[in-house]
Amino acid sequence: MSRLIINGQKRLEGHVYISGAKNAAVAIIPAAIISNDICVIENLPVIEDVIILSKAIEKIGASCEFRDEHTLIIDSRNIKSCYAAYDSIKKIRASYYLLGALLGRFKKAEVALPGGCNFGVRPIDQHIKGFEALGAKVTVEHGMIKAIASKLVGANIFLDIVSVGATINIMLAAVFAEGTTIIENAAKEPHVVDTANFLNMMGAKIKGAGTDVIRILGVENLHGAQYSIIPDQIEAGTYMISAAITHGDVMVHNIIPKHMDSLSAKLREMNCNVEEGDDFIRVIAKDKLSSSNIKTMTYPGFPTDLQPQMTALLSVANGTGVITETVWENRFQYIAELKRLGANIKVDNKIAIINGTKNLTGAQVCATDLRAGAALVIAGLAAQGQTEIDNVKYIDRGYEQIEEKFRMLGADIKRVDD
Ligand code: EPZ
Repeated sequence: MSRLIINGQKRLEGHVYISGAKNAAVAIIPAAIISNDICVIENLPVIEDVIILSKAIEKIGASCEFRDEHTLIIDSRNIKSCYAAYDSIKKIRASYYLLGALLGRFKKAEVALPGGCNFGVRPIDQHIKGFEALGAKVTVEHGMIKAIASKLVGANIFLDIVSVGATINIMLAAVFAEGTTIIENAAKEPHVVDTANFLNMMGAKIKGAGTDVIRILGVENLHGAQYSIIPDQIEAGTYMISAAITHGDVMVHNIIPKHMDSLSAKLREMNCNVEEGDDFIRVIAKDKLSSSNIKTMTYPGFPTDLQPQMTALLSVANGTGVITETVWENRFQYIAELKRLGANIKVDNKIAIINGTKNLTGAQVCATDLRAGAALVIAGLAAQGQTEIDNVKYIDRGYEQIEEKFRMLGADIKRVDD
């Protein structure tokens, strides 16, 4: 068990370099096993989820070799099993991508129901609806989802809800389906586009990723590819918000500034100076922060995965801010922990009302999920005195070298292993 210990109120200054996107990596690793060939995936973040997934695909017969810590060579020529057991994937939600990938390649898959961060019911009915539309029979028994098809045939699939996971999973299953598959009301997140680009590099024929209509023309074969994953939008946003809360001056490098538009606009509204270059953003927060209202939305709206971090920021802004969570039904569990640091927040169902206070004060707190953990780190950086964060395992699922990166910016943060 690890804890993070932060002595707050140090102004962050300097340069931070963003890693590859977790949510692209966890889709692209399963996507690689669709080809009966070798793929080289570069710019992978060094995080728990990547390790768990690479071990899970090894268990079904792929061979995984890290050329260096960010580059994984996946040889999928010897995959024999279509069965991913609970033990190998229980910790990650994205294990559901193994279903789409195995179904696409072998026309059958049996994968344990996903685990992952805990913030409410996380149905996968839209994934199943997509697989069934392609001709698969899907059953759920003893905690396993089984999908089987004699053949997959392209179909028109209109998603009832905009779902990142369902969009990607249907793309994975449909690359070899006969004819054309059309996904309407598709998710437009950068990692949907990244996964489509990777599949296309392997020989798939996917058009429209990044819009709400994606067309997949089935092909007969995929070949190996070498691919570099996009930068992590949410990690970048976490450092931008940290710069703001510490009244700092931080250059966030290795990013796609366009992906940050919704956050940059909010930070400007809150009185920060946000400057953009080709692959960096500089956040300077000299003045008093003013409040703002935020509604989480699918891309290009404000990402739900930056909602907890923004709540931390609004806790010290001048005035009252309102956050409305529209993506997840129960993503405010961490607020009880923020209150332990002195935040003044009321929650009513999907709305949090945050009255900015002058100072947060350090306390012992516990990360309830990945982004909740990031919010507590951000709040701890601003708090007077010492903050101790438990359950760091959640943070490690999605942030590479978090304490090292913050230390480079001047934070007083260390990890203690019990
Ligand atoms: C992805 O989860 C991300 N995870 C999440 O990031 C992120 O919060 C979420 O997208 C929204 O942006 C990965 O990419 C691995 P969804 P996903 O399907 O794909 C409902 C993080 O912190 N829904 O877009 O599982 C669902 O309940 C993680 O990095 C259905 O009703 O999310 C939710 O309300 C946490 N039926 C909404 O749709 C379905 O079949 C969006 O979920 C699928 C989803």
